[in-house]
Amino acid sequence: MDNRRQRRQHWPQCHRVLRLAARSLGAYDRASTVAVSALAPSKVSTVLILVAMEAEGTPLLSELEGLQQDESGLPGLPALCYSGTYRDLDVIVVMNGVHPIHGVTSVGTAAAAVTAHAALQRYQPDLVLNAGTAGGFRAQGGAIGDVYVATAVANHDRRIPIPGFQAYERGRTEAFVPPGLLEAQPTWKLGVVTTSNSLDYTLEDEERMRGNDASVKEMEAAAIADVARGCEVPFVAIKVITDIVDGDRPTQDEFTENLGTAAASLRVAVPAALEFLAAGR
Ligand code: ADE
Repeated sequence: MDNRRQRRQHWPQCHRVLRLAARSLGAYDRASTVAVSALAPSKVSTVLILVAMEAEGTPLLSELEGLQQDESGLPGLPALCYSGTYRDLDVIVVMNGVHPIHGVTSVGTAAAAVTAHAALQRYQPDLVLNAGTAGGFRAQGGAIGDVYVATAVANHDRRIPIPGFQAYERGRTEAFVPPGLLEAQPTWKLGVVTTSNSLDYTLEDEERMRGNDASVKEMEAAAIADVARGCEVPFVAIKVITDIVDGDRPTQDEFTENLGTAAASLRVAVPAALEFLAAGR
């Protein structure tokens, strides 16, 4: 039985009541956003690249040859940090690392937020670039292998049906799209990235992803963008599509199948974005 059906059978009443309460509070309203324009850098000398999984970031590191591991890492975190120069930019790549208890890569919003905050404090970048893999939406014209640049990010699994929390639930943050980047990379696409702590999604999530007008679904961007905004550092996200959220194959199968090629694509896309930023300095 899939998770969605399981949950609905265990808590059908509770699920329905919460849904009705949320509706009556307008939790699904597209208007529950706060219009704040994206932070833009005045200069870009230091770029912090945040990547959740080593499987996503390791091919990129072999392309950014000059980077060396900072053995001291980030205090209290399993993060892996690499720094050096690339095309006259100071570049740092930080990956979340392996969870010390569970022995798997730390993914999701908590790991993303704490790692982002510690890395921002340590490296004081002019720009945060969150790079990774993601699900795409057929209904939005997405296909496996697409490279997306985020226009904005938002959550789709934060549910707090109490008046006043609607905009916070969604937590929409505008992303910085470097002017001219899409003209320089005409095959890349623009879209809203929607974030949750799950690879799958519930019916509630589905409705909220639609409300976010999402083209890209993943597990970190909204958390990182919120931390970057708090530190007043511009945020850019580049995501490569491994699976189709509204397709007919199990996400985990498509994701596993396409992770390698998507990581190879990030190996090309991220340096291309860095070169573009370096050229515009
Ligand atoms: N990463 C890659 N594909 C994803 C998906 N469909 N949902 C969340 N994170 C992902």
